[in-house]
Amino acid sequence: MTKKQQRKADELASSTDESLRNFRIVKIFGAEDFEVRKFRDLNNRLFKLFMARRLARFASSPIMEVIGSVAVAVVLVVGGYLVIGTEDSAPMLDPASFLIYLVALSRFYTPMRKLSRLNINWQTARVSAYRILEMLSIEPTVREAANPKPVEGLKEAIEFRNVSFTYGEKRILNNVSLRLERGRTVALVGQSGAGKTTLANLLPRLFDPVEGRILLDGTDLRELDLKGLRKLFGVVTQETVLFNDTVAANIAYAAPAVDEQRLIAAAKAAYAHDFILELDGGLGYKTIIGQAGQQLSGGQRQRLAIARALYFDPEILIFDEATSSLDVESERFVQRAIDNLLANRTALLIAHRLTTIRHADTILVMRDGEIVERGSHEELLGAEGEYHRLFRLALEGDKTAAIPLE
Ligand SMILES: Nc1ncnc2c1ncn2[C@@H]1O[C@H](COP(=O)(O)OP(=O)(O)OP(=O)(O)O)[C@@H](O)[C@H]1O
Ligand SMILES: [Mg+2]
Repeated sequence: MTKKQQRKADELASSTDESLRNFRIVKIFGAEDFEVRKFRDLNNRLFKLFMARRLARFASSPIMEVIGSVAVAVVLVVGGYLVIGTEDSAPMLDPASFLIYLVALSRFYTPMRKLSRLNINWQTARVSAYRILEMLSIEPTVREAANPKPVEGLKEAIEFRNVSFTYGEKRILNNVSLRLERGRTVALVGQSGAGKTTLANLLPRLFDPVEGRILLDGTDLRELDLKGLRKLFGVVTQETVLFNDTVAANIAYAAPAVDEQRLIAAAKAAYAHDFILELDGGLGYKTIIGQAGQQLSGGQRQRLAIARALYFDPEILIFDEATSSLDVESERFVQRAIDNLLANRTALLIAHRLTTIRHADTILVMRDGEIVERGSHEELLGAEGEYHRLFRLALEGDKTAAIPLE
């Protein structure tokens, strides 16, 4: 494929993948026609590119054949004259030599033709190589120190000291300081876009702060062994990432061997065991979950993600709660699963539901990349500031928050 073709094919593949994965949004917005048109358009352009290329490729062969045949004809005519001679000159070539010459020529013909194909292959390979090199040359922004210090777990606390972070020009976190102590839960709340997920991403060093430092028991994260650091964290994200594999493989994701007992214990603690057993007419843990887990409800997907976190039993948990509201029944199970997950664990909790937030030892309220308030639920309510406002909003907007809080 040429560079252009590969680009177009990439574009088509990712666009299709995207629209299929986001089918809910596509449907809600009534954008089916738009998506179909987009697909047809891209497909058409790709088709034209391919056809142009094929044409060049297949036309080249007949052209080569014609040139070859003409050359052979010329050789025969000229050679014939030389062997037979004309009326006024004697033959200049004896038949045997001419035959040898012809055989040599025919042997020569095939390699020559192959050589002409070499160009096509070379071009194709070159384009692929460029694409690979392009990928390889993306500089990782996070680098491991030359002599990284081993990570021996969390003894006291993780601390953000005056941390700022930018995406390009845009300042996302501004002078954030916080302390996450061992065994404690810190909750982050704040409106969408406040920078909560971004802050959490800095912990396993998906990104590094632009200013300030993050310390694990007093050592800058940048001095630590990266693999060891990342092993400390378990993450339950906003988008539950499920893979097209069995339930068991999803819970024990990427584990070298599945420990059956631990698997079931984790599923039970996550309130997932019962619904798992009933999946697919009793296939249970061996049920293959469809891509992105479409056959599961939101609450079930979340409980599987929680089971995964419980299975791995990380030292520090990052829980980025989904915003989408669940039905009351699901909600109750998910909440109990979360309770089990948080018990005696160091956790950074990004929560939208008040029932979840109230678990936290400390609540940090974020706005536009800054921490504007901090304290316990009662303290913050009493202060009648941003937290109080968010709390009111949640009470009005979210039925589940109406569960008696005191
Ligand atoms: N990869 C990215 N590139 C550029 N900007 C980004 C990127 N990811 C997030 N942002 C921006 O950073 C800001 C903070 O995003 P973040 O995801 O941290 O918010 P959040 O508080 O987690 O919101 P939510 O409650 O909706 O999950 C937003 O303005 C967002 O547009
Ligand atoms: Mg977020």
